[in-house]
This record gives sequence, structure tokens and C-alpha cells, in this order.
Amino acid sequence: MIKNDTFLRALRREPTPYTPVWLMRQAGRYLPEYNQTRARAGSFMQLAMTPELATEVTLQPLERFPLDAAILFSDILTVPDAMGLGLSFAAGEGPRFTHKADSEAAIQALAAPDMNKLRYVFDAVAQIKKALNGRVPLIGFSGSPFTLACYMIEGGGSDGFPAVRRLAYSRPDLMQRLIDVNTAAVTAYLNEQIAAGADAVMIFDTWGGLLPAAEYRTFSLAAMRRVLAGLKPNPAKEKVPTILFTKGGGVWLNEMADSGANALGLDWTVDLAQARQTVGQRVALQGNLDPLTLLTDPATVARAAEAVVRAAGPAPGHIFNLGHGIVPQTPPENVAVLVETVHSVSRAMR
Ligand code: CP3
Repeated sequence: MIKNDTFLRALRREPTPYTPVWLMRQAGRYLPEYNQTRARAGSFMQLAMTPELATEVTLQPLERFPLDAAILFSDILTVPDAMGLGLSFAAGEGPRFTHKADSEAAIQALAAPDMNKLRYVFDAVAQIKKALNGRVPLIGFSGSPFTLACYMIEGGGSDGFPAVRRLAYSRPDLMQRLIDVNTAAVTAYLNEQIAAGADAVMIFDTWGGLLPAAEYRTFSLAAMRRVLAGLKPNPAKEKVPTILFTKGGGVWLNEMADSGANALGLDWTVDLAQARQTVGQRVALQGNLDPLTLLTDPATVARAAEAVVRAAGPAPGHIFNLGHGIVPQTPPENVAVLVETVHSVSRAMR
């Protein structure tokens, strides 16, 4: 039984006494206690691969702030790592793969990984669920097939992922082969998280917004639809609610609303009131304060958070979040003000 289920109710567009809130990257480097645990682990990957430590950092933001959901501490790149690409995070830099999937031979050789290689993720889900003891729901997640392909082709982060776009235009057949492998992998990965106890799952399509509309439909949205259609019920035989987040996807909300997801994540460029008009009552909406707002002062944070709550309106089906991940320079005090403001302003609007 989940004691605070406002997040799950909002995903189902049921009335809630206030707007639930959680924050992308809520467990991370802006928290001194996270940095301590990470130092103890030795590296980000050691932290993510040790279920006890992943549980510890998942709970850290909940000890500080009355957040309405927990999110599994892991990373989207665990899946290509399990395919044998060799993931590492150098200090102060982004992710790196030892092997890229940027040639015909490399892409043809890829296969969806044995889920036993990702057992540490599913063990973390089970341990976190136990530690939460029903306090709030636990969100599982995966990268989208396309966003994973971006890092696999480029071998790491990149400004605009030029090699990815070139491949999509020149060799759509190879791109599709990579997307198909990732679609199978992501579906199996999310199903294992559901079996281990995840109460909701979110697909992070961080780079789908780089694509022209036609390629977005083919290589990103269609694959996410297939993932969503392939999800199994949880051990209690219930459908697990789903959230789809394409950063830069504001122009495609109408199509995304028919993807099969229960909710759409919105980045900070989207007008929340207009988004509600576009999607009607088809889906819940999650978002969308600019994470950089948190680098100002408490009064500015409170004003900006209130504006987002008011833009969402009084109708059920809004989950407050940032429009992208919280940045490491964020003062934790501003997060406290944000969460308090969302709860109090939305409660007064009911
Ligand atoms: O939201 C949470 O609190 C859960 C944890 C989580 C992490 N990564 C932890 C992490 C989640 C949901 C992710 C998803 C993720 N990872 C995405 C999709 C969402 C997004 O932000 O767009 C992407 C694109 C990645 C890939 C990735 N992981 C990058 C580009 C980086 C380096 C940049 C950075 O922010 O440091 C990571 C590393 C990473 N993943 C960190 C954390 C807390 C920082 C690593 C550290 O502690 O040094």
C-alpha cells in the first residue's frame, strides 16, 4: 500500500488535494550528502551498480524535502553498457563509450542484452521499494530507443549529435536496425523494473527534439509507442502508468498524446496552458519550470513556481516538475521553497 499516492492519482487524472511534485535529477550533485556517498563509492558507476548505495542516494532528497515520488537512482546508459559498449564517466566530464555503434559492422553485431547483466538495477528497484515502505511511489525509467542510439553512435555526449543525424538521413535502414535493437532492450528493461516493483515508468527522450518531424516520428515516436505497447502489468496485475518526455517535443504534443502514455513531460519552453488545450483530457502533463530558475533567490523561485501551478489550472492531471534535470549549482534551500510553494499554492486553488 502506498501512503502518499497523489503522484499516481495525478497520472490517472484523478483529483488530488494538491499538485504532486518531484524533480528530474532530484538525487544528485547539488546535495552534499550525494557527493559524500559518491566519493565513498569511488565512481558514479560503482554507485549505480551497488544497490545499497543506490538506495541510499535515492532516499536522500526525500529526507530533505516532502517530495511526492522517488526515482530510481541509475542512468539511461546502463543499457548500452550491458550491450558491451563499455561505459565510463570521467570526473567533470560526460559519459564515454569505449566502443561506438557507428559502422555497419558494429550495428549489425548489436543485440538486446541479457537482462541478467542489468540485475543490479532490478535489485536496486527492489531494495528502494523496501526502504520506502510505501511512503511515496517509485518511478523506474529508461532512455528512449533514439536517445540511447545518440550516445551509442557518437560514443558520448555531443553538441547536436551530427553523426546521428547523418546516419538517419544517409542510412535509414541501419538507423532502423539500431532503433529496433534498442526498442527490444528498453521494453525488456522496463518490464524487469516493473516486475521488481516500479510504480510508474518514464521514458527519457532527451534528444528526439533534434530531429525533423518526419524522422522524429519514424525513429523516436514509433519506437516509444512499441515500447509502451510491450509493457506488462505489475505483479498485482495492474497497468503501470507511463510518462513520455521528449525534450524539444512541444511541437508534437498532439501526436505524443496518442502514443499510449498516461502523461507527457514538458520542457520549459512549452506554454503549459496551451499544452493542456492541445492534448485535452487524453493525458496528464508533467513539468515544466526552467531548472535555472533555481539559481535565483527564494522569492523569485516562489513566484515562478506559482506561475507554473496557475498555468496548469485547477483541472486534475498535473504533476509539477522541472523542464529538465536540476543543475549541480542549485542551492538546496531553493528546492525547499519550490516544493513548499507548489504544495501550498495548489492546495489553496482546490
Ligand atoms: O533523476 C534522478 O534523480 C535519477 C537519476 C538519473 C541520472 N541520470 C543520474 C545521473 C536519471 C533519470 C538520469 C537520466 C539520464 N542520464 C538522461 C536523461 C535525462 C536527461 O537528463 O536528459 C541522460 C541524457 C543521461 C546521460 C548522462 N548521465 C549524462 C549526459 C551525464 C553527465 C552529465 C551530468 O549531468 O553529469 C550523466 C551522469 C549522471 N547521471 C549523473 C547523475 C546524478 C552525474 C554523475 C556524477 O555524479 O558525477
